[in-house]
Amino acid sequence: MSNAPIGVFDSGVGGLTILQAIREHLPNENLLYVADSAYAPYGRLPKDVLHKRCSHIARFFVQQGAKAMVIACNTATAVMAEWLRKEFDIPIVAMEPAIKPAALATRTGKIGVFATENTLKSDRYRKLLAEYAKDKKIFESSCNGFVELVESGDLTSVQAFQLVEKYLQPMIDEHIDVLVLGCTHYPFLAPLMRKISSQQVAGNQDLQIIHTADAVSLQLTRVLAENDLLNFKDQEYVKYFTSGDIQTAERVMSILLQEDINIQEII
Ligand code: DGL
Repeated sequence: MSNAPIGVFDSGVGGLTILQAIREHLPNENLLYVADSAYAPYGRLPKDVLHKRCSHIARFFVQQGAKAMVIACNTATAVMAEWLRKEFDIPIVAMEPAIKPAALATRTGKIGVFATENTLKSDRYRKLLAEYAKDKKIFESSCNGFVELVESGDLTSVQAFQLVEKYLQPMIDEHIDVLVLGCTHYPFLAPLMRKISSQQVAGNQDLQIIHTADAVSLQLTRVLAENDLLNFKDQEYVKYFTSGDIQTAERVMSILLQEDINIQEII
């Protein structure tokens, strides 16, 4: 069982930010990655469709013999994690926006949160704010268009810069000093965020940009260890699947991961 794969999925290519961290933390593990790009963005998908897609992908992982699953998507976690945990027997590791570390890190008491509409509306996220950031001022944005930019592999164009600036500059003007990336697509745009924010933040400190890829990988490591599921043999494969167009996915994922990727279809 311990050399069985771990299934990792997202609405699209955003979860690759999590997959990269898992590959660093757990280099022996065999991995299956599903990009549900035909249905991205999940951030504005009706709940019943989200429900169907998440259960379909989870069943696919189980059929492939997966020993654990990672929901590499804040939106799917916010809406579906509890249900998936009830329905499926394998350990499931999920995400949440890094509100707690952000609340500990801020000095201005002002935190920016970039996450999808569904995540920002979710009870899970509201509870996090109530628990850890009651005394902080929170600036939220669902950053319409970011997911589409990353899905098209555009991380560097003038249009990408302008779109990121449109959402980030008003928060910098409000003196946030910490920015939470509560969507797994957004870390791919962090270099642009750094460019825009450099030297503009209070006290000339760099804006702290926080996301949870390392925390999720550590949590996965703990969960595998607790369940005696760590793989001590060498990694045999990382397999990629998409519900979207294969050629586009191969092009975009190869840009994002900076290696040549072969992709199979999942319907
Ligand atoms: N990457 C996802 C997240 O973490 C979903 C983005 C989307 O498809 O809207 O929320």
